[in-house]
Amino acid sequence: MSTERRTKVLEVLKSAEVGTSLLVKGWVRTKRQNKNVAFIALNDGSTINNLQLVADPNEISEDLLKLVTTGACVAARGEIVASQGSGQSVEMHVKELEVLGEADPEKYPLQPKKHSLEFLREIAYLRPRTNTFGAVYRIRHAMIFAVHKFFNDKGFLNIHTPIITASDAEGAGETFRVTSLNMDNLPKTEEGTIDYKQDFFDKETNLTVSGQLEGELAAMALGQIYTFGPTFRAENSNTTRHLAEFWMIEPEMAFFDADDNADLAEEMLQYLVQYALDNCEDDLKFLHDREVEENKNKKEIERPDLYLMDRLKFVVDNKFERVTYTEAIDILRNSKPNKKKKFKYLIDSWGADLQSEHERYLVEKHFKKPVILTDYPKDIKAFYMRQNDDGKTVAAMDILFPGIGEIIGGSQREERLDKLEQRMDEMGVPKEELWWYLDTRKFGSAPHSGYGLGFERMILFVTGMTNIRDVIPFPRTPGNAEF
Ligand code: 4AD
Ligand code: MG
Repeated sequence: MSTERRTKVLEVLKSAEVGTSLLVKGWVRTKRQNKNVAFIALNDGSTINNLQLVADPNEISEDLLKLVTTGACVAARGEIVASQGSGQSVEMHVKELEVLGEADPEKYPLQPKKHSLEFLREIAYLRPRTNTFGAVYRIRHAMIFAVHKFFNDKGFLNIHTPIITASDAEGAGETFRVTSLNMDNLPKTEEGTIDYKQDFFDKETNLTVSGQLEGELAAMALGQIYTFGPTFRAENSNTTRHLAEFWMIEPEMAFFDADDNADLAEEMLQYLVQYALDNCEDDLKFLHDREVEENKNKKEIERPDLYLMDRLKFVVDNKFERVTYTEAIDILRNSKPNKKKKFKYLIDSWGADLQSEHERYLVEKHFKKPVILTDYPKDIKAFYMRQNDDGKTVAAMDILFPGIGEIIGGSQREERLDKLEQRMDEMGVPKEELWWYLDTRKFGSAPHSGYGLGFERMILFVTGMTNIRDVIPFPRTPGNAEF
């Protein structure tokens, strides 16, 4: 049986006809057994729902049934019968059983009880076998597919931008070095510094912090492109919103101004959420109910205003609020938490960088909906953002989401060579290293815009999970690169 074609549990539950004989394979979630019958809950990852296998100890040997424990992998052939119990329409009356892989109950770490998310992080190699993580990873897949579908349907081209690069697009200096030099015997220049001319690429290189700069090059020929790739940041932020390795979606559009950019971002976010609502119903319902359950014993004030499914519907049904940075600063300066000194970082003047506490205040307390914040001071944004006529601000946009804070960062790009060079000089961005980027402003430059969506932050929102380590299969964070 182990090599024969199986029917997936999803298919069995959706469309198997009573009376047919089928073969299923999967992992045992639970087994209940008495003298007359054994009930085995089987899950194969195709759906959050289990198939109930009913085995008669007179037909299936006791020795075999003993090996059917939580975590074991089994193949079962049997007849599909109408279910006696509630919760499922059909179950399988087992005629033949094979244990493909045993799981010693004394040693198997995942038991049919509620484990904490912290514990499950320590056994991240097994956590896909839980309902919660199965749901999260199926939704994550659906969102990857939906991203490609959204852009493909609009005629965007997917571009693979390099993972190894020599530039630090965001200019924050938080890169991971890539080198093939011998760390125990580094070649030195005459001045005594490391001689990168002897390194693999004849220069210093790092893992990319963004595919944007190369994305812009492609947009200046192909019109509308998007990247969807891994992104690496060596920022030492041990928060529930930061990863050292995450995935980013970066569209770049020729001839788009800042408003067009915001329109596209809003449309995309609503599309992705709607796609999840339409295609991930069982998993979302499970996560929704889980959230309701988690909050049952909390005080009214600590409970969310809306639970998962309602939050998702809310985002699809309501236009995002568009506000300038300057307006936001006024709101924050006069806000209760600022006046009562409840913010960790108090807002006292224009120019202050916004922290996550401020972003969440605007979204969750003030506007109570997603916010598109625009026109930030140029001094707190990257060199490539287009300078506004006021001489103080740039055509930046951050999109802030409830429970998340910043989910998207983007801008209209500076397409004017002189302005771009002037800004690079002011900010100490090496022009000679970015000569190719500057060339697009010399030859056939055009107004253009783009943004970056942090994929894991999107998955946080769509699943209602609260720690970014729980929405990527194998999280990389400071001090952690296990598995
Ligand atoms: O705001 P960021 O740094 O913008 C850029 O990288 C631009 N080059 C994007 C562009 O215009 N093409 O990052 C974009 C988004 C953030 O809004 C956030 O959602 C996510 O990437 N992000 C992170 N997600 C997880 N862990 C981190 N350490 C992240 N840093 C940024
Ligand atoms: Mg940002």
